Amino acid sequence: MTSVDLPTNSAESGDGLASSVDGSLRASLNRSEQIEADLQVHPERYRMLTGDRPTGKLHLGHYFGSLTNRVRLQNLGLDSWVLVADYQVIYDRDGVGDLKANVYGAIADYLAAGIDPARSTIFAHSAVAPLNQLLLPFLSLVTDAELRRNPTVKDELANSDRPMSGLMLTFPVHQAADILFCKANIVPVGKDQLPHLELTRLIARRFDERYGRADQSRQVFPFADALLSSAPNILGLDGTKMSKSRGNVIELGMTADQTAKLIKKAKTDSDRHITYDPQNRPEVSNLLMLAALATGDDPVQIAEQVGDAGGGGLKRLVTEVINDHLAPIRERRAELVADQGYLVDVLRAGNTKANEVATQTLSEVRKAMQMDY
Ligand code: TRP
Repeated sequence: MTSVDLPTNSAESGDGLASSVDGSLRASLNRSEQIEADLQVHPERYRMLTGDRPTGKLHLGHYFGSLTNRVRLQNLGLDSWVLVADYQVIYDRDGVGDLKANVYGAIADYLAAGIDPARSTIFAHSAVAPLNQLLLPFLSLVTDAELRRNPTVKDELANSDRPMSGLMLTFPVHQAADILFCKANIVPVGKDQLPHLELTRLIARRFDERYGRADQSRQVFPFADALLSSAPNILGLDGTKMSKSRGNVIELGMTADQTAKLIKKAKTDSDRHITYDPQNRPEVSNLLMLAALATGDDPVQIAEQVGDAGGGGLKRLVTEVINDHLAPIRERRAELVADQGYLVDVLRAGNTKANEVATQTLSEVRKAMQMDY
């Protein structure tokens, strides 16, 4: 593994978890901007890790919200790692569902969207035993109060009637292992994931403090930064949060016809004159944003172009540009899905590489902890 010359995270010098949410969001945004600028000049300084829970099919929210950004970063020359977080499927549910289909479906989506297995390591964390072993020392570095303070965990405690599993309580620590096993220093995420990244940095720092390696040059783990994306938040076709159970999402793997039918049912409003006004016309504006993302054009201009053609005209345009944009991706996806053997090979190769790197990290951890017998 190449050692990366790490820019240090200056926002993370204080004690414990940040107290001011607004302040830390602003700091994270500033930091993201600095990194974004540096990436263009020094892509070799960065190892990026991102991941998804394989709970279902990937849709346009994933595609415009994160896949295109991953591909962009990969193409800039970053060492990129893509995690299929299969153990995270069971933190808030009893069964894994159609796990294998979801895993290979996600990998087909990744590759079709432009993730290149020669430049990005695609792996499943359940297949990387030394990664999971990091959980033991890491769990000793956090308190139960810190775990209960995590917003995702708190939300589950407040809003779910099922008892919280031990894995749910500790999943942010597992997520730290996902990031730290390969010493990733940037993690492109949405702002909901910021608390997890903060915990990851806390664990990295405490590990080095506790095991006498606070000297930065001999530090075992880097400080991982969030890279906040500038992607707009896309809603489902009914104007509410995207959710498979509401039937309001366009999956990457759908056909052009299925896409057309869904868009036809999309919610609009009674004003025939189309304008881009996210505040007052969320549904119409969301459709305009989808068209803008698919074409690279400005949503205001698209609105002017549609003008008095109304909701019907807008839907025809959105259907056309989305289907045009996705056509080559869908074609490639269909070829990949027909070649399961290839998808299996890609995942196995990624798992092998992840195991090599995780074994190396675990041996450094054991040495620091005097457990290298
Ligand atoms: N929690 C992430 C999600 O729900 C998935 C994930 C697991 C992840 N491990 C990660 C993301 C490590 C970034 C880094 O989408």
